[in-house]
This record gives sequence, structure tokens and C-alpha cells, in this order.
Amino acid sequence: MSPNKKNSSPPRGEGWEAEMAEKIPLSPRLWSLRSRFNSLLAIFLALLVVLVVSSTMNDNYQLTDANSSSAGPAGSCDLFSGKWVYDNSTYPLYSERGCKFMSDQSACEKFGRKDLRYQNWRWQPHGCNLPRFNATRLLERLRGKRLAFVGDSLIRNQWISIICLLDTVIPDEHKSVESNGSLTSFKAKEYNASIEIYWSPLLVESNSDDPVHHRIPDRIVRVQSIEKHARHWTNADILVFDSYLWWRRERMKVLWGSFDDKDGFYKVIEAVRSYELALKTWSEWLEFHVDPLKTQLFFMSMSPTHFWGEEWGIDRNQNCYNETEPITRDRHWGRGSDRKMMRVVETTIEELRMRGVSVQILNITQLSEYRKDGHPSVYRKQWEPLTEEQLADPSSYADCIHWCLPGVPDVWNELLYAHIFSK
Ligand SMILES: *[C@@H]1O[C@H](CO)[C@@H](O)[C@H](O)[C@H]1NC(C)=O
Ligand SMILES: *[C@@H]1O[C@H](CO)[C@@H](O)[C@H](O)[C@H]1NC(C)=O
Ligand SMILES: *[C@@H]1O[C@H](CO)[C@@H](O)[C@H](O)[C@H]1NC(C)=O
Ligand SMILES: *[C@@H]1O[C@H](CO)[C@@H](O)[C@H](O)[C@H]1NC(C)=O
Ligand SMILES: *[C@@H]1O[C@H](CO)[C@@H](O)[C@H](O)[C@H]1NC(C)=O
Ligand SMILES: *[C@@H]1O[C@H](CO)[C@@H](O)[C@H](O)[C@H]1NC(C)=O
Ligand SMILES: *[C@@H]1O[C@H](CO)[C@@H](O)[C@H](O)[C@H]1NC(C)=O
Repeated sequence: MSPNKKNSSPPRGEGWEAEMAEKIPLSPRLWSLRSRFNSLLAIFLALLVVLVVSSTMNDNYQLTDANSSSAGPAGSCDLFSGKWVYDNSTYPLYSERGCKFMSDQSACEKFGRKDLRYQNWRWQPHGCNLPRFNATRLLERLRGKRLAFVGDSLIRNQWISIICLLDTVIPDEHKSVESNGSLTSFKAKEYNASIEIYWSPLLVESNSDDPVHHRIPDRIVRVQSIEKHARHWTNADILVFDSYLWWRRERMKVLWGSFDDKDGFYKVIEAVRSYELALKTWSEWLEFHVDPLKTQLFFMSMSPTHFWGEEWGIDRNQNCYNETEPITRDRHWGRGSDRKMMRVVETTIEELRMRGVSVQILNITQLSEYRKDGHPSVYRKQWEPLTEEQLADPSSYADCIHWCLPGVPDVWNELLYAHIFSK
């Protein structure tokens, strides 16, 4: 594995200042993850039990504003099952340069990517069409409201996408981005609408909660504590959560008690189990603190990575670097996506539903699995100067986690849009 061997020291906090200059703090530093991934790869490979989940827990619902022109009867349709269709007349939905709030982590064209077909793919569900994203209509829906995204750098990727999707219809003087600690808000003043991103990569409290300096090797999570974060988003009208990649290690150090408490009790437990405990805390918070009649709740399923070329038939030392076309093999599924953890999410949400709170899972894993071409790879801002060794082997520092914009997260937002209006 070329990326593993070159386990160069992961980026530190530098580069952040440059980002602050953009007025939008975007600090994904998921870098550490990659080296973690890699070092744990062997273990993962051994441990990975691919659970064949036959459950087709797909949400069927009435499409409200799409004509099913293609096939099948109008009405119920699984929007997450489909294929990518090249469509350069409709896509991209905005231009990279035209988006005032674009992040240097997603601006692949700006950082030298020449093949731009990754911007031109439309998601075509089997049996119906995705409703067209209408920014004005969404803003009207959000009038006087808060839409909050909560989670890690992948959901931040999605937040940048949605503000780019909305950006074009709002004149400059009527929009702004404000940041306060872990919360960053895009405001559409004319609509008194706020579209926010709240940094909490593990949803519950952890020692990685600092929106800037969160790359801490010895990760500690307080699986029973969420209020420090939750009080900032509880009153939002639409909440969109994600949390996955930060749990992708074999074991997790869990703390009972507070970080200041000398008598805090630590235990190292299986990561999947700690994920389960954390989601339980999260679901209980929703049950007791969020008004299900007022608030729409969504959970983004895991975002896949493309680090292992042999999964799509190229050399095993290759990754998403140099990939320019989606995977066409139906149901392609990489080993970066853990079905066991997906099941934990499903079960937690199902139990919550039985207690009267409905959270919609936006199952974007499968559709994103096909998009090995959609990652920034080397075409993004680098936080540290690259070594000669790295430059000689670009795939060694390729980002195969996040996504270029315009690109895949735009489709996640089209799906979110469809669900916001399906009620
Ligand atoms: C998401 O979709 C995949 C495949 O399309 C399926 O295996 C999985 O069970 C679904 N998960 C959820 C939570 O709906
Ligand atoms: C749906 O199709 C009907 C008839 O084909 C057409 O009159 C109508 O304008 C279409 N609506 C939308 C939203 O495209
Ligand atoms: C769209 O793609 C087609 C086929 O690849 C090409 O002929 C056409 O020039 C493209 N149009 C634009 C606007 O890029
Ligand atoms: C978008 O939505 C607005 C407000 O609902 C509506 O007036 C407009 O016609 C829509 N645009 C398109 C292209 O459908
Ligand atoms: C603006 O929206 C907030 C919620 O985000 C609400 O509390 C406030 O009352 C609204 N203000 C006006 C003037 O509508
Ligand atoms: C930032 O958040 C804190 C606590 O949530 C609040 O007390 C403070 O007023 C906020 N600052 C600004 C500038 O909004
Ligand atoms: C990437 O593509 C370039 C140009 O097509 C080629 O020269 C290079 O060998 C490729 N690198 C890898 C690692 O496949």
C-alpha cells in the first residue's frame, strides 16, 4: 500500500490561518484518519465481516414536484437506487468560481484539476426523477428558519455545497457568513434564514471538538455527553446529522466523567460499541429536547472513500488519484463503508421512531460509492509543503475522502431538498 508506507507526519494545524482569511473556518484535518486507516488497514481487513444486509429499508414516499417522465408509475420511488447519467446540459448546478463561499478543500478546478467531467453527472433514480433544485423555493421554505448541519468535515462539504446552490439567487449585500466557536452560519438576510454548520465530528463530546485544533491522536470520547453541543442546535427547524469516519478505528477510549474531573473513568472499548452508545445519547437528546412536530430530522449515511484501487479493478497501490469516470458496476461497495455501523444507525433510528420521533436516513452511501472520480485527490489546498517523496508519487497524498464541488454533495442536497418538500 503506497499510502500506508509513507506514513508521513499528518498535517498539523497550519494552513488554518489561510482558511480563516476566507472567513469560513473549514478545518477538516481528516488527514489523521487516513494514516490511521492505513495503519489499521491490516486489522480491518481481518476484522471486516461483510454483513449482507438484505433489508431494503428504503423510504418510499410521494414525490411532490417531479414528473415521472422516464419510467414507472408516478408516486412511490426509492430515490437512492439508481445510476449516474452524464448530463452536461444541466450539470454543474453552479460554477466553482461563481460560488462566493467555495472552500479551498473542494475547489478542485482552482487547484489544477483538468478533467472536469466529475461536475457533469446527474443522479437518475430508477423509476422516477429527482425534483429540480429550486433555490428560491428552498429559501422561501426556510424563511425565518434555521437549517443546521451537524457533524464532521463531510457534512461541512455538504454545507458548502448547499450555500453554493443558494448563493446565486441571493445578491451579495443580502448574505453573510458568521462564525462563533463551533457554529458557522450562512445568513440569507432577505429571508431571515440561517443555514448553519456545527462542528462535532463524533456528535457527542470528545477531545476533537475544537473547530480548529482537533487533530488529536489519542482520541477520547464522552459517549454520554451531548448537551454542550446540542444546546446550540436544538432549536433548529431542520437538522441534518452525520458521524462516521471519526469512529473508524478498532477501539475507542471512552471517558465517564468530565475532562476536568481527576476521577474521570476511562475505558477502551470496541469502536462500534462506542458508536452505539453515542448514538443512543444522541437519540435520547432528540427524544426529550426536540419538538418532532416542528423539526425535520435527517441523518446522512456514511460517505464512502476510495483508497483501494483493487476494489474497482486497478492496481492495488492506486487510489482515487487519476480517476476520471464513475464506477459502473452495479452495487459496487468498498470496504471503507461498514455495514455494521450502518445497521447501528438504522437500529437507533428505528427505536427512536417507535418512541415517536422520526429521523429520515438519507442513504447516500451506495450512490456515492460509484464516484471514485469525485474526490479532490491532489487538487486541493495542501496544508504542509509536500516532500519530494510525495511529489514523486501523487497518490500517496491524495484526498480520497472529501469531494470536489460542484460534485457529489450537490446530489446529496438535491436528495435532502426532495425530502424537505416531501412532507
Ligand atoms: C442503504 O442502501 C444500501 C444499499 O443500497 C442498503 O444495503 C442499506 O441497507 C441501506 N441502509 C439504510 C440505513 O437504509
Ligand atoms: C408534468 O407533466 C404534465 C403533463 O405531461 C405537464 O403538464 C406539467 O407541466 C408537468 N409538471 C412539471 C412540474 O414538470
Ligand atoms: C457535452 O458533451 C457532449 C458529448 O460529450 C459534447 O459533444 C458537447 O460539446 C458537450 N457540451 C458542453 C456544453 O460541454
Ligand atoms: C422556483 O420556485 C419559485 C418559488 O416557488 C417559483 O416562482 C419559480 O417559478 C421556480 N422556478 C422554476 C424554474 O421552477
Ligand atoms: C428570524 O428568524 C429567527 C429564527 O431563526 C426568529 O427567531 C426570528 O424571530 C426571526 N425574525 C424575524 C424578524 O422574523
Ligand atoms: C457566541 O456564542 C456565545 C455562546 O454560545 C454567546 O454567548 C455569544 O454572544 C456569541 N457571540 C456572538 C458574537 O454571537
Ligand atoms: C496518472 O495519469 C497521468 C497522465 O495520464 C500518467 O502519466 C500517470 O502515470 C498516471 N499516474 C498514475 C499513478 O496512474
